[in-house]
Amino acid sequence: MFITFEGLDFCGKSTQVKLLRQYLIDLGQKVELIREPGGTTISEKIRKILLDRENSKMTIEAELLLFSASRAQLVREIIIPLLKENYYVISDRFHDSSIAYQGFGRGIDVHKVKEIQEFAIDGAIPEITFFIDIPIEEVKSRREKFEPESWDRIEVSLDDFYERVRAGYISLSHNNKRFILLDGLKSIEQIHDEVVKAIERYNRL
Ligand code: TYD
Repeated sequence: MFITFEGLDFCGKSTQVKLLRQYLIDLGQKVELIREPGGTTISEKIRKILLDRENSKMTIEAELLLFSASRAQLVREIIIPLLKENYYVISDRFHDSSIAYQGFGRGIDVHKVKEIQEFAIDGAIPEITFFIDIPIEEVKSRREKFEPESWDRIEVSLDDFYERVRAGYISLSHNNKRFILLDGLKSIEQIHDEVVKAIERYNRL
């Protein structure tokens, strides 16, 4: 089963991904956790280029294609082979991030972004996608807890960019049955509970 987590930076995805991994391991399942961009040697190199704040000249088109290139490698090298071996593959971000960030956020034609994603992911569409929603004010207050020097190239983005990304995610979650919208202001335990219940419903674990 292929499960993805999506949301704005600092929404708490990474915590939920780890909790779900442990939950499934405790059930005796085979689980692999991956993060995007990254997850293979080639994809991690692409990740460095993408997040490096010195690359301020990167065009939005190059950005989209680099995220998609990293994903194309990850899908073929890791995700598809593991799904064939009946693993639970949990990904911290996947193709919906490109639709939300590069499409809705950066303003690249959303249909074009989706077409590129189809090519990149080769049919590996997640069964369930959790969108952890937090308001922009919450992104800002959580971001303040980290030194500005540590923010990556995307995290330094302005509020209106994040507003568009969030609107993109909300639209995706209304239009795709595989999406489950979670309130990111709830406690870690409450959100984990909802994640587990959704997977149980799907699988009758
Ligand atoms: P990362 O440090 O992994 O952030 P997070 O822990 O919040 O996921 O950095 C990934 C950044 O790249 C994040 O700001 C979202 C952005 N991104 C895109 O813009 N498009 C994409 O397709 C992906 C996968 C990520």
